[in-house]
Amino acid sequence: MDEVDDTSEKFDQFLHEQENKGFMRLLTCGSVDDGKSTLIGRLLYDSKMVFEDQLSALERDSKKVGTTGEALDLALLVDGLAAEREQGITIDVAYRFFATDQRKFIIADTPGHEQYTRNMATGASTADLAIILIDARRGVLTQTKRHSFIVSLLGIKHVVVAINKMDLVDYSEEVYEEIQKAYLDFAETLGFSTIGFIPMSALNGDNVLNQSETMGWYTGKPLMEYFNTLDIDAGDDTRPFRMPVQWVNRPNLNFRGYSGTIASGTIKVGDEIVALPSSRTSKVAKIVTFDGEFDSAHTEQAVTITLEDEIDISRGDVLAAVQNRPTVTNAVAADLIWMDEQAMALNHPYLIRLENKTVPGRVTAIDYKVDINNLQQLAGGDDLALNEVARVQLALTDRIAFDPYELSRSMGCFVVIDRMTNKTIAGGMIRASLDTASNVHWQALDVDKQARASAKHQKPAVLWFTGFSGSGKSTIANLVEKKLHARGNHTYILDGDNVRHGLNKDLGFTDEDRIENIRRVSEVANLMTDAGLIVLSCFISPFRQERQAAREVCGETPFIEVFVDTPFDTCEQRDPKGLYQKARAGEIKNFTGMDSPYEPPENPEVRLQTPGHTPEEVADMVIRYLDDNGFLSP
Ligand code: ADX
Repeated sequence: MDEVDDTSEKFDQFLHEQENKGFMRLLTCGSVDDGKSTLIGRLLYDSKMVFEDQLSALERDSKKVGTTGEALDLALLVDGLAAEREQGITIDVAYRFFATDQRKFIIADTPGHEQYTRNMATGASTADLAIILIDARRGVLTQTKRHSFIVSLLGIKHVVVAINKMDLVDYSEEVYEEIQKAYLDFAETLGFSTIGFIPMSALNGDNVLNQSETMGWYTGKPLMEYFNTLDIDAGDDTRPFRMPVQWVNRPNLNFRGYSGTIASGTIKVGDEIVALPSSRTSKVAKIVTFDGEFDSAHTEQAVTITLEDEIDISRGDVLAAVQNRPTVTNAVAADLIWMDEQAMALNHPYLIRLENKTVPGRVTAIDYKVDINNLQQLAGGDDLALNEVARVQLALTDRIAFDPYELSRSMGCFVVIDRMTNKTIAGGMIRASLDTASNVHWQALDVDKQARASAKHQKPAVLWFTGFSGSGKSTIANLVEKKLHARGNHTYILDGDNVRHGLNKDLGFTDEDRIENIRRVSEVANLMTDAGLIVLSCFISPFRQERQAAREVCGETPFIEVFVDTPFDTCEQRDPKGLYQKARAGEIKNFTGMDSPYEPPENPEVRLQTPGHTPEEVADMVIRYLDDNGFLSP
């Protein structure tokens, strides 16, 4: 679950090891044939960042691959992997470094192939300036629009459009101007702070490092000078303090520190901080870095912070300024860039990975999709195909602390991970909380779940009984509760019929109402386990998705799904409340098993086949399961 993309880990390490403040981060985007690798190769070559051994390998490879005759093929400098050389495309994000007298640069090189948008988003999230490459012969393509749109979604404020291969259009000023106009027409609503245009030939070196002599009509700067002089934003130091905890550093009993990289703001010894989502507060005692102890630290520094009080903080929690807190919620509106061949499905369980924290979550609605050709909003639908971009609503099983992406890229971005394959399948930017109570901060309480449970000498758990009406859920749960009670356990039964007289008396039996019924009782079950109780819940709970959601609401509390597997016909014969008869007569609508579906559990913890057993025997099976699996030993 916590596998980290190797490249980005190395990159992060590089950043931390270097004095990273002076870097400008560049992102290149272009189609396969736009000459991107050649351009990067030239930047590296002309700025003398190519080392001797790389050069001799390059000469060797140029001869072998031979697309440029005897001359050096600068693209080979960049196309590192053998496989991609053979296919002629660049596959992964690669970071390159070069420097001029004025600035140091990190350039993220990402492939232009459409299905590799994913890699682009990975490389782009920290970039200051995007270089959009256009082949002068081909002009503004769908790719160009897609890349520019994603660059804008990712919050990159500066764009320079490199109109390359001018040598192949006779260095025509007219072509350059047409492309400039077409690009501006498209990009005007994207919200970039600056857009530059440079006509160039990366192959010949025109307007890369030096002013082109053949394009006298162009009076702007060559690319390298553009890089050197562009005014980029000062950084995140002015934002309130945020640090997602990467790990709890506990080398011995006398030291407990929280390590991570400061996402925004500054921090001083003595500052009051709050840990989220628990909302516990304390003061900074020490700030330790690789270079020793400091009185203060700023954005992007990797630090270990110790606090004056012992409070419970785990990996993925966020330390933040008390007076200016991030939003804490479990429902957000976000922009999603789908990057997987397999389409996104509404309500399918995925993993959502934020900085240092992974939580299960689902997309509950697609508000709209964006047509990247004209930036129009299209109707949402219920799936999202490869490379589609949409505004969605996300429901998470845990509360997270975030800042909107436009305020903080690191506190507002996430990736979506497939639960089975662990693959990154989407990138996302959080725009807002959907929680109507998002300004309600969680109240930290001193007596916690563990304290309440140990006062009762038991481990809280949820026994979730599901099955048709009349299957025997309540009868069995009642007997199980009696047995638990006799053993001194503290329990409570949540029963469909009973809850529907009070808490849920506004709900009927449409699919929607049943979903809301189960959502509410899951929350109640969770609160009861927080109170230290063993909860027995008896609801038809006909939908798999809702039972899964109930499990997720209960988080780490043991959740034992008990399938009371009495066949429909048997339930109808028993008909304890005469409801089946009424439903057959058409007096009850949406009756489960008749005109409303029941989805049996696929892998329940306990399956009870009631025909042929007395309720007493079946209840004993449940108790035996609990004993055998250690749920009842305190
Ligand atoms: S659930 O589907 O939302 O989980 P729940 O368990 O709360 O249902 O309520 C089911 C109980 O309501 C049944 O045991 C039955 O007594 C009663 N009931 C009334 N109408 C219906 C109906 N249309 N379908 C199923 N049960 C119904």
